[in-house]
Amino acid sequence: MTPFDDASTRVAAGADAHTEASALVALMTDDEKLWCLDGDQPFWAGMAHLGTGGYHRRTFPAGRVERLGIPGFAFSDGPRGVVIGPATCFPVSMARGASFDPDLEERIGDAIGRELVAVGASLYGGVCVNLLRHPGWGRAQETYGEEPHHVGEMGAALARGVQRHVMACVKHFACNSMENARFKVDVRADERALHEVYLPHFRRVVDEGVAVVMTAYNAVNGEWCGESPALLADVLRGEWGFEGFVISDWIFGLRDGPQSVAAGLDVEMPYRMVRAVQVPGALADGTLAWSDVDAAVTRVLATLLRFPARPHDRLDGAALATAEHRALAREAAARSMVLLRNEPVDGHPLLPLDASSLRVVAVLGRLAAVANLGDGGSSEVLAPDVVTPLDGLRASLPGVEVRHHDHDPTVVDGADVVVVVVGLTKQDEGEYIAPEGTAHLRHLLPPADDPALAAAFQAAASGEEIGERPTFFSTGGDRRSLRLSPEDEALVLAAAAAHRRVVVAVMAGSAVVTEAWRQAVPALLLTWYPGMEGGHALADVLLGREEPGGRLPFVVPTAETHLPRFDPDADAETYGLLHGQWLLDASGHRAAYPFGYGLGYATPSIEGVEVEADGTDLVVRATVRNTGARAGTEVVQVYAGLPTSRVIRPRRRLVGFARVDVAAGEAVAVAVPCSLQTLAVRQDGGWWMEPGTYEVAVGRHAADPSATVAHVTVTG
Ligand code: BGC
Repeated sequence: MTPFDDASTRVAAGADAHTEASALVALMTDDEKLWCLDGDQPFWAGMAHLGTGGYHRRTFPAGRVERLGIPGFAFSDGPRGVVIGPATCFPVSMARGASFDPDLEERIGDAIGRELVAVGASLYGGVCVNLLRHPGWGRAQETYGEEPHHVGEMGAALARGVQRHVMACVKHFACNSMENARFKVDVRADERALHEVYLPHFRRVVDEGVAVVMTAYNAVNGEWCGESPALLADVLRGEWGFEGFVISDWIFGLRDGPQSVAAGLDVEMPYRMVRAVQVPGALADGTLAWSDVDAAVTRVLATLLRFPARPHDRLDGAALATAEHRALAREAAARSMVLLRNEPVDGHPLLPLDASSLRVVAVLGRLAAVANLGDGGSSEVLAPDVVTPLDGLRASLPGVEVRHHDHDPTVVDGADVVVVVVGLTKQDEGEYIAPEGTAHLRHLLPPADDPALAAAFQAAASGEEIGERPTFFSTGGDRRSLRLSPEDEALVLAAAAAHRRVVVAVMAGSAVVTEAWRQAVPALLLTWYPGMEGGHALADVLLGREEPGGRLPFVVPTAETHLPRFDPDADAETYGLLHGQWLLDASGHRAAYPFGYGLGYATPSIEGVEVEADGTDLVVRATVRNTGARAGTEVVQVYAGLPTSRVIRPRRRLVGFARVDVAAGEAVAVAVPCSLQTLAVRQDGGWWMEPGTYEVAVGRHAADPSATVAHVTVTG
């Protein structure tokens, strides 16, 4: 038994993890403590390993001290699955956000957790909850949407599922929702905007018990997030009582090593880089105190003692992309697809298609026949195989001629229906890794690695590996226009001119402005980047074997000018109180499709709405009734606002939701717990509940004219 094992045993039996961790730190040498302040790998050897695909073959280890049996942790990324080996590629987080289904998200977390264990990881980096302030954000697909309550619930569900197996890390703390400028932008947000809009979902995931927080690259109010006492000491630990540990984002996540330690960032990831160079000197000249180092190491060890997951080197390829996990990916993809338009053709809504009446299906668009799974940066998952839209349709329609052309509209001649697949790829949006973006940080690169350490790392990295395919980051970046490419818009219009029965399937990570063509086609479906089973799910939905279960996790405006300003090159940007649906509500612009919108094939009704209030705690009760002949699904959405408010605030914001599946001819009673505290006003470090009569609207989306509106009075 090592000292760490002994401490673990005592913690499992009820001893205090922090006390046990302090005792372990007291046994450590100075060098061992410094070793725990950053990743265990040497920088240059690590970079060489990354450059040959190492990111997808090995975890990132940190904090291992063999003498005391301290296992450290081993990180692997997400969010659409495990990035090591041929793992299950789920639909991207934004798609899963559209499912409005935290139970499903928890099951996905559970599956990802199992696959993490199979690749030897003990920490998952895929709980990304940065708010979608603007859909142009290149990494929009990695988060869940624009509404804090919804984003928090979905992130908490993923963390819950993952943490049945390993530790989860929530990121990027905070206000990281611009990509190209992430290494330089200073996000300015006043106290209200921060605490009411940009932080609540982080707090939700912290309250769920997430083990680890990753800081963002950008600055907030003039402090780099990885060095920010305001964010780390005051908010995260002081106000929220976070008990886990904090890691940096990769490579350029901090600039001032000693300041980052003092501020409360515990581990610099992924390599021995800035701190290894700067911290020893700062300790020697007294600008950094050893007590700050001890505090950081204690927090890491206390968390490791509380979470049983341990890194290991046994790679279990058979546990990756199992039949069960693929089925889950298919289910999630169908439950995420959002049907935005389904107009009658010859007296009936075009969808669902009746497979028995089809002889020829024409499929147009290059994206129909390629794997299109989303971002090509840190979230890329190397699925062992991918079902494209074309594969999915062909598999579901044996005996039907399914023809395809990238762009020739004459392929539609004689077809019963046309499916046009358009949208974006990892070249158009995603993580942005352009060398010029970090040129100003080159001075942070360390000198040559310690030869002994580099050799030890190379030896370890050349061990057993699953998945041999090196990949290279694609360009990605923010979008400068929310429209489809001119070629895609022309293709849709050409198809619409040539045929009456046209379904447009849009693949993208967030909003696409559709004004130039949406009225020209009867059916419009948002498929997102739907994961490795996405083509099957698309066929399931088009043929009515599954409901198009998704609802928009953001507003789709009629014009980009209705959204906040978005400048991908900004050095500074102000984040305010209103964005997305809230901004459209305030300015009176009608949305093309409001937040929460999505059609089904079955049309269950929401009846008998009652709102019970106990102070600011609400329970909304309703019955979802399906009088139709097919099973349906509805997302009951609860919005609240204070029409008489004396402060600037959203007209209404989401305070609760419940996804309900209802069989044909059935009715399901639903109770949605909500809190009006979601509408509390932040002031001088505290919270203020404005007195007045709050409106509580229960409906199908943020602009539902048939929502039931109840009133709840809050007194001072
Ligand atoms: C990304 C993080 C990610 C990390 C490790 C960084 O480039 O910003 O989201 O967790 O890489 O993969």
